[in-house]
Amino acid sequence: MPAALSNTKLFKEIKVGNVVLKNRLVFAPSTRIRCVDDNVATDSMLEYYSQRAKDNGGLIIVETTFTGKVAATIPGIPVLETEEQVQGWKKIVEAIHENGSKVCLQITELGRSALPQVLKAQNIPFVAPSAIYFNEESRKVAEGCGNPLRALTVDEIHDATKRFVDAAKKAIEIAKFDIVEIHAANMGLMNQFLQEESNQRTDEYGGSIENRSRFVLETLDSIAKEVGFERVAVRISPYSRFMGGQSIDTKTNPVVNYGYLLSELERRAKGGKKIAYVSFIEPRISADSASKELLTPDSSWVNEIWKGVIIRAGNLLHDENYTELKNFVDGDDRTLIGASRFYTSNPDLVNRLKNGYPLTPYDRSTFYSGPSNWGYITWPVYGEKSIAQDSEISNATPKALV
Ligand SMILES: Cc1cc2nc3c(=O)[nH]c(=O)nc-3n(C[C@H](O)[C@H](O)[C@H](O)COP(=O)(O)O)c2cc1C
Repeated sequence: MPAALSNTKLFKEIKVGNVVLKNRLVFAPSTRIRCVDDNVATDSMLEYYSQRAKDNGGLIIVETTFTGKVAATIPGIPVLETEEQVQGWKKIVEAIHENGSKVCLQITELGRSALPQVLKAQNIPFVAPSAIYFNEESRKVAEGCGNPLRALTVDEIHDATKRFVDAAKKAIEIAKFDIVEIHAANMGLMNQFLQEESNQRTDEYGGSIENRSRFVLETLDSIAKEVGFERVAVRISPYSRFMGGQSIDTKTNPVVNYGYLLSELERRAKGGKKIAYVSFIEPRISADSASKELLTPDSSWVNEIWKGVIIRAGNLLHDENYTELKNFVDGDDRTLIGASRFYTSNPDLVNRLKNGYPLTPYDRSTFYSGPSNWGYITWPVYGEKSIAQDSEISNATPKALV
């Protein structure tokens, strides 16, 4: 049997931003491609998040959501721009709150990680900090469909900031999310600004570490001006190799590059402008999989610089003794644990960890298999049977909430 974690700090209350969480287990943002019709949230998503919010009391960070159509619409991935999209999310937020948990929205733009042919079909340019493709395939597709990658103009960078601010305002003020997390990880647009390999600009948004961090910090400050620092958070993945990330092979070591960003966040915190948390993806993970090289560089430097609440995610539930998890959560009084893959297959993950119940293994083939309900809202709580693959629920077609 796995270790029971009831006596660890995982079950100690903690204040994060403006909200008090009953535990320190966080559902890390997990894209599931389950939206239908115009990227509006569905009844299946409402059920999925309600199941995970029930008997929980912790924080659920819902899947990455684009700031708008131009950010890279992809079928199945939510957007927060139109009235329907906002009202759809609002229903899910209400359900999560009614079930006693707190909820955060991760907001994103894709930059060069977008699909140029999907953008082209909507007359949207394929843009990034610099015209540097993340691989040859992306170049071929982009050039083939007549939408080659180009560098953003400074005005377009300011427009992107405005989109992030608009989405954050809608999320907090209308949909009533507790926190918004800006996605500066996994080589989305923000991450592309931070990394030297994807940002070769020579203006105020590139060149030095300060300049490469400018877009993230300006956007964060602009959002905070509208909704308050305590309602904003940032996610980073200094060691990821996903979508062209260079991990430790990057020209400027992650400790230096991201150390600056964290110093800036800590400087704001000391000046009374403390963000809700920093979410840090562990070196041993690359996006949604264990990193092939299983890197284990010492990442305690993050705690040396950033003194506020930190969420650590990455392979922390894959050892039945939960050794690393316990070291992190009990090592200080400000660390939360993010879980993604096991949360997909264990709606009652909190309860299972508390009591040491075994975890249902996840099924990677269902991660992005939307819009089907199978492998999405069909996982059982401990002691119950899963819903059958040929059942009415599994076969039902998800419907937009608005
Ligand atoms: C299906 C799936 C979708 C994911 N989608 C996102 C996402 O939208 N945004 C994000 O920052 N990370 C995403 N991730 C990464 C997770 O948040 C997490 O960092 C990673 O899976 C490591 O945690 P784990 O070992 O508990 O799975 C995703 C992971 C999975 C498995």
